[in-house]
Amino acid sequence: MVEPDPVGALILDEAGELGDVVLVVDDVDGALTAAALERGARVLAACDDIRDEEQLPAGTTTVDLTAAPGPAADPLSEVTTVLWRLPKAVSAVEDVTQVVAMRCASQVVVYGGGRDKHLVHAMNEALAASFAEVSASRGRQKSRVLRASRPTDPVRTWPHRESLPELGVEVVAYGNVFATTALDRGTRLLLRALREGRPARGRALDLGCGSGIVSTVLAGLGWDVAGCDTSAAAVESTRLTAAANGVTVEVTRADGMPAGLRELDLIACNPPFHRGTAKDSSAAFSMIADAGSALRPGGELWLVFNSHLPYLPVARREVGPTRVALRDPSYLVTCSTKL
Ligand SMILES: C[S@@+](CC[C@H](N)C(=O)[O-])C[C@H]1O[C@@H](n2cnc3c(N)ncnc32)[C@H](O)[C@@H]1O
Repeated sequence: MVEPDPVGALILDEAGELGDVVLVVDDVDGALTAAALERGARVLAACDDIRDEEQLPAGTTTVDLTAAPGPAADPLSEVTTVLWRLPKAVSAVEDVTQVVAMRCASQVVVYGGGRDKHLVHAMNEALAASFAEVSASRGRQKSRVLRASRPTDPVRTWPHRESLPELGVEVVAYGNVFATTALDRGTRLLLRALREGRPARGRALDLGCGSGIVSTVLAGLGWDVAGCDTSAAAVESTRLTAAANGVTVEVTRADGMPAGLRELDLIACNPPFHRGTAKDSSAAFSMIADAGSALRPGGELWLVFNSHLPYLPVARREVGPTRVALRDPSYLVTCSTKL
């Protein structure tokens, strides 16, 4: 069994005796789920990131917090304890808090833990918007737990919907999505380059699609578009954004390239520089390598990244000849052609 790290251990200690049905949210290494199962609880696990889901003990029952509950009895309705590795974004805390407060049992108690350096006061406020009692534990090993109980009458405010007049696009996004409904500066530059690039012809992939802004713009330009992301919230947001703009995007939740996508004409990517709360470029490196193997000869990878990041030589090595298509003081957009 995986031993919990300091954050996981503090969450478990603060929770003490668990309820009969436990919801574990964003368990990064499977340790919280394993501990709850060992204590005899019935466990439901919700991981936004598919890579976290793959760490869960075999046979764990998973639930998707972004999907609206179906007509059958809601599996969350019996949950009385929530063990949660808090995400970095306050918007994500607010979004999940609303779901938990609305759908779990009225006596539910939430234990959300994180490293002190990642916790901000706005997270207490996000919890307090849906729970009458919110308190913080004492710190231990640079970690802390926020405890919330007594759900009030929560209002579901996520997903948000926003118009981006400069693109002529409506964006719909859940709270756990990169930039939520905003247009990231790098994404804006990538889209400018793509609109000025060659005419739309063929099959394109938005690799790491987030809210689906890039997918939707590409589909509007006439590309036949697929999108993929590790995040359940991103996948659902991309579907909603495409639908809000009347375009079709085939979206898959996957770590890197979805199976079966080959001989692509275009891949657009604004790669991640974080995984969860940690800075991490390894996903970006493997996404560039994946792109190299999924493009047809002559197909193009369009990347945007902060100019200090070492992606240009990787794109040359993994894909082929690479030119800088556009730049601003912070970002580069590169176009690599598969040989
Ligand atoms: C910088 S954001 C860009 C999002 C969107 N394309 C945009 O420009 O607004 C990077 C996205 O990549 C996703 N991601 C991270 N690692 C990934 C991986 N291994 N495979 C697929 N997507 C990944 C993240 O969840 C995130 O949505």
